[in-house]
Amino acid sequence: MLNLKSLDLKKVKIETLVIPVCEDKDIHGDRIISSLIKEVEKLKEFKGEKDDEIIFYNLPEIKAERVMFLGLGKLEKLDLETLRSFAGKTIKKCIKKNLSEVLIAVPSAKKIKIEASSALEALLEGACLGNHIFDKYKKEKKQKALKEIDFLVTPATAKKFSKLPSGIATVCEGTILAREWVSTPSNDKRPEQFTKSIVTLAEKENLKVSVLDEKELKQKKFGAMLAVAAGSQSKPSLIVLEHNPEGAKKTIALIGKGVTFDSGGINLKPAASLDEMKMDMSGAAAVAATLITIAKLKSKVKVIGIIPVVENMPSGNAARPGDIVKSYDGKTVEIGNTDAEGRLILIDAISYCIEKYKPRILIDMATLTGACVVALGEKIAGTFSFDDKLNESIILSGKKTHERCWNLPLPEDYKELLKSDFADIKNISSSRWGGAITAALFLSEFVKDTMWAHIDIAGPAYLKKGNAYCPAGGTGFGVRLLCDVIEKLGR
Ligand code: BES
Ligand code: ZN
Ligand code: ZN
Repeated sequence: MLNLKSLDLKKVKIETLVIPVCEDKDIHGDRIISSLIKEVEKLKEFKGEKDDEIIFYNLPEIKAERVMFLGLGKLEKLDLETLRSFAGKTIKKCIKKNLSEVLIAVPSAKKIKIEASSALEALLEGACLGNHIFDKYKKEKKQKALKEIDFLVTPATAKKFSKLPSGIATVCEGTILAREWVSTPSNDKRPEQFTKSIVTLAEKENLKVSVLDEKELKQKKFGAMLAVAAGSQSKPSLIVLEHNPEGAKKTIALIGKGVTFDSGGINLKPAASLDEMKMDMSGAAAVAATLITIAKLKSKVKVIGIIPVVENMPSGNAARPGDIVKSYDGKTVEIGNTDAEGRLILIDAISYCIEKYKPRILIDMATLTGACVVALGEKIAGTFSFDDKLNESIILSGKKTHERCWNLPLPEDYKELLKSDFADIKNISSSRWGGAITAALFLSEFVKDTMWAHIDIAGPAYLKKGNAYCPAGGTGFGVRLLCDVIEKLGR
């Protein structure tokens, strides 16, 4: 349903043609389109300013039922994210008008001074992601996704980038899968259900799948993880997904926090936004969806995904503040706060991953701290690593995909804040400040000498209000980022 097309506008009948227009420069290479823009700009109501819109029906020059001119603003402000957002907004407009297909005129790469492949990627991505509607829980489905989204390009471009649409569609499907898992309410993704959903979809893509159930987690002494799961009626699990292409040398391991609901446990969270804690498995969703995506793309990189899944609930069986548990690694942990549960499940997953798979690189992704949202806001993830190159790599992929990451430090002397009087380490800091950093430092105590990065996505994993190419709810943040990072690091 996502295509690059080159066709004769005078001959081929189409439902809707969309023409993006800059206010200060003609950005199109097609003569018919440029002449249409000239006509339109004679009108007072359309200047090509950002979000300007005007629609014409049955123009005599071409065979489109309607032509929608949409403003992009000034050329100097045009970048990949403007294109992505433009495409997303365009699709939303078409959905609102109950249309079923659209042809979007792609600006000339030379005229917008952006590389053709990047511009196309951004447009395709924005359109594909913007076509996602989450209405599974509505009785009345008011909106319908478009059936076909086409991009008008020159014959040479269509030929050169013929493989691009399917690749982009696959990565966007991964993002949408992660979004839907995150947006699903916690009553429909209790650990058993979430685990089953991941396993079913992963097996379909021929990933190697194994699951440690509660009994095995007990046998293998996942003490920290089991302490988090103890308060819930649901049983925890640890899912391992393996993409193992022939000839791959190094292994990249991804670990995703899978707390299907974070009530805080005995340190119960306050009522405000508690409903949003269904999103506390966003790291798990991103990791599972990334593995499914790279399997579909037949990536040459060996990747292991490890996903600890639990529900954090208060009950008579729940772990108490002050409890001391033994982690998989053998280190004892004092649970200073039952709401700092993410790091407890992650350390056991990290230790298990390193012991069993000895990865060259390990990246964990987690909605780990509110403090990270305080530091960087709701759109940017915090990244941590002792390895500058790995940090840089993640930041660059963040720029490319617009899943933005900002590097935060891992200062050695802050480790002191995690000291416990009774156990080897405590799961909360003795200071109120720098909570994203101390959480990352807590994890770092379990990574040994493995090259590791931690990505705190507590901010960007979830949207209270929809934006240009994402509806309210899960954003699927991390899938596009990780797919890009893997391809780079796997080389
Ligand atoms: N899941 C939360 C972090 C979170 C907060 C995610 C806001 C998304 C939005 C995490 O388990 C948590 O509760 N962290 C505590 C840690 C504290 C008790 C040290 C926090 O951030 O307050
Ligand atoms: Zn918590
Ligand atoms: Zn949490």
